Amino acid sequence: MISKSTIDQVFDMARVEEVIGDFVQLKKAGSNFKGLSPFSEERTPSFMVSPVKQIWKDFSTGKGGTVVSFLMEHEHFTYPEAIKYLAKKYNIEVEETVQSNEEKEAAGERESMYLVSEFANTYFQNTLHKTDAGKAIGLSYFKERGFTEETIKKFQLGYSTDDWSGLTDAALKKGYLLEYLETTGLTIVKEEKQFDRFKGRVMFPIHSMSGRVLGFGGRILAKNEKAAKYLNSPESDIYHKSKVLYGIYYAKQTIAKEDNCYLVEGYTDVIQFHQTGIKNVVSSSGTALTSEQIRLVNRLTKNITVLFDGDAAGIRASLRGIDLILEQGMNVKVCTFPEGEDPDSFAKQNTHEELQKYLKDNAKDFIAYKASLLMEEANNDPIAKADLIRDMITSISKISDQIKQELYIRECARIMDISEEVLFSTLAQMNKKAQFEANKTAQKQKKAFDVVKNTAPTKKIDLQFELEQKIIEILLLYGSQTEDFEDLILKENDEGILILEPVIHKAKVFEKIYLDLQEDEMQFSNENFKTIYYLIIDYLNQNDTFIVESFIHEIDPKLAPFVSNILMNDERYRLHNWGKNNIFPKRKDVNIAQLVSETILSLRCFLIDQKVNEFKEATHESLTDNTNVLEDVLNYSNLKMLLSRKLNRVL
Ligand code: CTP
Ligand code: MN
Repeated sequence: MISKSTIDQVFDMARVEEVIGDFVQLKKAGSNFKGLSPFSEERTPSFMVSPVKQIWKDFSTGKGGTVVSFLMEHEHFTYPEAIKYLAKKYNIEVEETVQSNEEKEAAGERESMYLVSEFANTYFQNTLHKTDAGKAIGLSYFKERGFTEETIKKFQLGYSTDDWSGLTDAALKKGYLLEYLETTGLTIVKEEKQFDRFKGRVMFPIHSMSGRVLGFGGRILAKNEKAAKYLNSPESDIYHKSKVLYGIYYAKQTIAKEDNCYLVEGYTDVIQFHQTGIKNVVSSSGTALTSEQIRLVNRLTKNITVLFDGDAAGIRASLRGIDLILEQGMNVKVCTFPEGEDPDSFAKQNTHEELQKYLKDNAKDFIAYKASLLMEEANNDPIAKADLIRDMITSISKISDQIKQELYIRECARIMDISEEVLFSTLAQMNKKAQFEANKTAQKQKKAFDVVKNTAPTKKIDLQFELEQKIIEILLLYGSQTEDFEDLILKENDEGILILEPVIHKAKVFEKIYLDLQEDEMQFSNENFKTIYYLIIDYLNQNDTFIVESFIHEIDPKLAPFVSNILMNDERYRLHNWGKNNIFPKRKDVNIAQLVSETILSLRCFLIDQKVNEFKEATHESLTDNTNVLEDVLNYSNLKMLLSRKLNRVL
């Protein structure tokens, strides 16, 4: 267990905008930051971070919370993992209270897989730097490739000895379980025998966006062997090939800063580029690009430059993957290297300035590049040329910006020597077909929805939920303030009729709410609100001032999203330019006392209605004389009328 004092320190130091800024490109928007949601594929930003409140809210998915809940959501960390991550980021020493065996077991399978991967990473590095075989074989190989000591250390490169089970034995001896060595793919278990997957290879650890080791790539050293040149960790609960980009951890900051990302094919391309001083580079590790990988980059920049090896063979196959980038609204450039060179070899032979200049001079717009490339291939073959037109227009149709589309059509017409009209009409046809398909799916969905609608009547807004939420909101925002309340004393007048008499008195907002609710024996119907309510009341009873930021950190992280949700509700308005449309949300602090009374009265009215309905149902069910019940109903109705009148005045 991590000690309370460490957790406190972490919360003191961690800035939500800094931590989230490592994953999402944030722009200042008033007193907040906003950016594209990392949880959905949106194009207009609805993700908000409040440095003042130290919380975040994603309006596209409804998620939100503290710095810790962000890491739990985004990186799928557990609570302790998130705390440790922050401690590392802010150089805080983690103080651990002793862990029992049960706690160790409960640490979770994924965590165990991370731990064993971390162990292997350290083990491979130690082998590389500290053993004779490592130095003689692994280290000399890397040096031969032109990697400096600094680069080798930075990328945590390692060496796996040419023994059958060097790593496996060392890990088992340290108490790591064979189960996790196997699920991470580090060890292959066959008929009771165990051996190291990466035996005799130099090792490239693959990191997540936040720097955790997810898996490895291992390169064989001997040249003429039948075995694959690179061997990679298998898919597992922690390593999903399609969602990882090699080098993203080292590149993310520079990608955002330079507002461009270079995409290469191999591990060594990434490393060599870094060494030459170009750090905004990631690799898809030889596999076809996936939309999840693109999304990782899309959070950091809208611009990708794809770098191709000098051998033309691979280029055509990669073109389709590039349409995926266009689909996400990104701008794509491509750059090829001279025959026989790849980014690695080219960077190795050139200085930083030369490489920069080469990239600048040779990066071409993707659409124009594709058109020229295909033109070369098609030559004068009319069938090939027809295919090429369709191919080009498919790419262009992925671009959402209409002006851009049109410019590209012009450009393509010029390059391919075809009239613009033909291209425009092909695009129109293609759009029509896409529209037709989209309509078909929409109709199917609508039908499915109709069925649902017929069986279940549309749900009305849950008034009770809204009111309970409002009460929590008031407590969070104004709980410790003292206000003048106009209290209503229920009295019988001379004629025996119930009336409400106003009396003014000073009270703290939370006391007023607490007493009013207690008077009605009102309980929250929503369990989360109920828990938060008592936490706030307790907190306010013990502390004179209420600091939301410290409160939110003291509560169960599961509840934090509810609190931040409430606090961020008003920020939503700032996302849209309501002012432009003449919609001005009500300001909350106009009159707090009034707001409190209004909310509590509304809730009372709601509860009275509920009671009345209950009574009505009860009378329907029984045939006995129900004068007592009727009387109750009348009394309640009376009360309701009085309350409504009062409410009208308040409103
Ligand atoms: N790759 C792989 N398995 C292979 C071959 C390649 O996973 N059998 C991946 C690796 O991520 C590799 C990338 O594809 O980095 C590009 O392959 P290639 O160009 O052949 O390798 P290089 O990165 O150039 O590696 P090297 O220079 O070490 O030969
Ligand atoms: Mn290479």
